[in-house]
Amino acid sequence: MTFAATVLTLYPEMFPGPLGVSLAGRAMADGKWSLDAVQIRDFATDKHRTVDDTPAGGGAGMVLRADVLAAAIDASVAPGIPLLAMTPRGKPLTQARVRSLAAGPGVAILCGRFEGFDERLFEAREIEPVSIGDYVLSGGEVGALVLLDACVRLLPGVMGAASSGDEESFESGLLEYPHYTRPQMWEGRSIPEVLRSGDHAKIAAWRKSQAEIITRSRRPDLWERHIGARVQPPSGARHEEEE
Ligand code: ADE
Repeated sequence: MTFAATVLTLYPEMFPGPLGVSLAGRAMADGKWSLDAVQIRDFATDKHRTVDDTPAGGGAGMVLRADVLAAAIDASVAPGIPLLAMTPRGKPLTQARVRSLAAGPGVAILCGRFEGFDERLFEAREIEPVSIGDYVLSGGEVGALVLLDACVRLLPGVMGAASSGDEESFESGLLEYPHYTRPQMWEGRSIPEVLRSGDHAKIAAWRKSQAEIITRSRRPDLWERHIGARVQPPSGARHEEEE
């Protein structure tokens, strides 16, 4: 099955961009996913092909028109395909959401520019606002590339059997442990001895503890959630010690 991606944008020439090379590019050439970049401006109705207008109530910048965007959506987004809008006002993108999207038939992504979208669009169509982080980009296109990259690498047969992704950062609620490779000695620094021990149980324990140390120091938010999930039994459940 082909994962069908549709991107609605004022800059279709930005696609596939980096997704046309390496892992994602090969997967596209192999027919594992497809990408349709739709020019929003093609759905404007006036002779100047206007897509935006000044904000109601005044203020800086321009706002994308709901009527033009709705026409673009209605003409190019297939029923049953989740429709996301890239905006810093959206819900932060997570690996869990990426995984659920990658397991589905595809995704349509609306890319904002200027000050954003006319809010009525979100009332009139089923649209999930998504942010890729707490910073402001000049438009949603880079966010769409990020989201698609994250989805495509999870499609069946794209990463290969060697990396199922199960041990990656976020999959276990922790950041990943550190990696090393040859040379054994580099600029006076050696690879941790345990990794050369051949003792797989010891290596697994070391990696787990490293993942915990790094998560605790770099991402206290993830660490708190991890600890909370571990120590709090689901409500109504009995403690193991009590059994
Ligand atoms: N457009 C502008 N900033 C963005 C962000 N942080 N995430 C998604 N889309 C955006």
